[in-house]
Amino acid sequence: MLKILSVVGARPQFIKAAPVSRALRRSFTEVLVHTGQHYDAGMSDVFFRELGIPAPDHHLGVGSGAHGAQTGAMLAGIETVLLAEKPDWVLVYGDTNSTLAGALAAAKLHIPIAHVEAGLRSGNWSMPEEINRVLTDAASDLLLAPTTDALEHLEREHVHGQVRWVGDVMLDALKLFEPAMARSTALDTLGLEPGRYAVVTVHRAENTDDPVRLAAILSGLARLELPVVFPMHPRTRGRIADHGLSHLRSAGWIDPLGYLDMLALVGHAAVVLTDSGGLQKEAAFLGVPCVTLRDQTEWPDTLELGWNTLAGADADRLLEAVRTTRSRTSGSVSELHERFGGGLAAERIRMAILAT
Ligand code: UD1
Repeated sequence: MLKILSVVGARPQFIKAAPVSRALRRSFTEVLVHTGQHYDAGMSDVFFRELGIPAPDHHLGVGSGAHGAQTGAMLAGIETVLLAEKPDWVLVYGDTNSTLAGALAAAKLHIPIAHVEAGLRSGNWSMPEEINRVLTDAASDLLLAPTTDALEHLEREHVHGQVRWVGDVMLDALKLFEPAMARSTALDTLGLEPGRYAVVTVHRAENTDDPVRLAAILSGLARLELPVVFPMHPRTRGRIADHGLSHLRSAGWIDPLGYLDMLALVGHAAVVLTDSGGLQKEAAFLGVPCVTLRDQTEWPDTLELGWNTLAGADADRLLEAVRTTRSRTSGSVSELHERFGGGLAAERIRMAILAT
């Protein structure tokens, strides 16, 4: 049986690994490596527990740090594991520092790389994620694209690896865990009425590390006419204190949530405001409009089908987008599900690796 070594480290990668790991283990021996990029119980353990992800075979415990130090520590740690495990494939997810470290370690040892969520582009080279994506795609042997748009980027870039459209594994996860999500008691616990609140997340460096952008977003949120529930990434909580913005605090600022509670909240929200890539899609998959607190998105289908509006980091644009977005009903959820692979991406990934 071929051996696949999968590298995860950050919250969205745990979610993506849940359906993919299940599919892979039907045909391959999987070795799971956790870099330790995310390490708080609420940022890591809860996902393994709730989503039934197998315990990592290797935990590198790298933790936080400057980009170079963090990526370098992961690179060294993953290399040691690769030399011991000798896998036939290395599989990496998305665009985090864990992704790049996994790809680079494998490339140097001439181990074939499969990249899940290949081909996304924002065109914004100041984002660490954009650097990670482009470099990982350049090193990959099998590029598993979630959308036709991603496929076109890879064709244009003439990457050396083989490119396959497989759909989006986050839709697989959503479909897989929908019944468990329905059992969440998060709305009751937080005292929220279905359809009468906004869900907010902000964690991108471009927003959190820029005091002007972060202040604009928080003051726009403070003027929203809806109650806000804002599960806050530890980075954001830290930067709000560093930038002296704690006076903009609201009762809805809570600790990060697990996947099931988060999606239960999103599914019943009036609107989602976020700078996360994953939540933009998850809102749309659940038929909830999204206002994206960025200047670009890697998911143009969500804009095209009417589920998403870009508002940058500007209080007035944010408020205007919430008003117009909430009254819009043009989007089609089933068309969106189809474009994102209908929940069968993990199976297509298994087949693509088998066929390569
Ligand atoms: C990372 C990814 C980002 C992804 C996000 C998902 C990179 C460059 N960025 O961003 O693409 O969208 O994960 O959440 O890889 N911290 C804790 N506890 C934790 C994790 C982080 O307190 O468990 C704090 C630390 O202060 C740390 C900061 O958050 O320095 C940033 O963490 P880091 O992993 O560097 O990047 P994220 O912002 O989480």
